[in-house]
Amino acid sequence: LNVRRATEDDRETLYALWDEWVERESPVPPWVEGAQQETRAQIDIAIGSRCAVIAEECGKVLGFACGVVKGRRTGDLTELYVRPNVRRRGIARALVKAVVVALSERGVVSVTGGVGPENAAARRFYEDAGFQTVELRFVAAVEVLQRRVTEGTSRAEPAE
Ligand SMILES: CC(C)(COP(=O)(O)OP(=O)(O)OC[C@H]1O[C@@H](n2cnc3c(N)ncnc32)[C@H](O)[C@@H]1OP(=O)(O)O)[C@@H](O)C(=O)NCCC(=O)NCCS
Repeated sequence: LNVRRATEDDRETLYALWDEWVERESPVPPWVEGAQQETRAQIDIAIGSRCAVIAEECGKVLGFACGVVKGRRTGDLTELYVRPNVRRRGIARALVKAVVVALSERGVVSVTGGVGPENAAARRFYEDAGFQTVELRFVAAVEVLQRRVTEGTSRAEPAE
């Protein structure tokens, strides 16, 4: 297994790996707009700052990960993907290790990451790597909110 920094020449490969993940496993939910463009922009930033890494074996690409520096001392693990047929071989661990090296070279002392609540494998991965849960994020349709927060307002009538 070879884990190396991704370069401009790998850009399309990383884009394609993300597309593969979304197509096969993680359709973009309707409330997330412009996910592909946003992700591609983050991948470009990660490559440009030498914080994108790629795993290969016998000329085949097995996965990638990206880190992006946010502020002065915090980095975000923006992408992490290992192709399904090569999982549970420690490839994600090797990718994250390489991203952490790259981020720490840029002065990062804390790393954030995120995962959907249904993604048990990734959650286990993050927890085993030492990440702690710091936030729960929510989404609701405006129509639902309008109904639910208008009902039962008697306890909090606005003062006239
Ligand atoms: C999450 C993901 C990156 C893990 O990749 P991987 O190469 O299989 O992970 P590793 O082999 O390095 O696993 C390291 C540890 O993570 C945990 N882990 C990984 N996959 C797991 C699973 N399916 N179930 C439970 N624990 C898991 C284990 O603790 C594992 O150590 P062990 O194998 O010694 O028990 C991979 O499943 C993936 O690409 N998923 C789709 C993309 C994704 O969800 N990305 C992250 C969120 S954006």
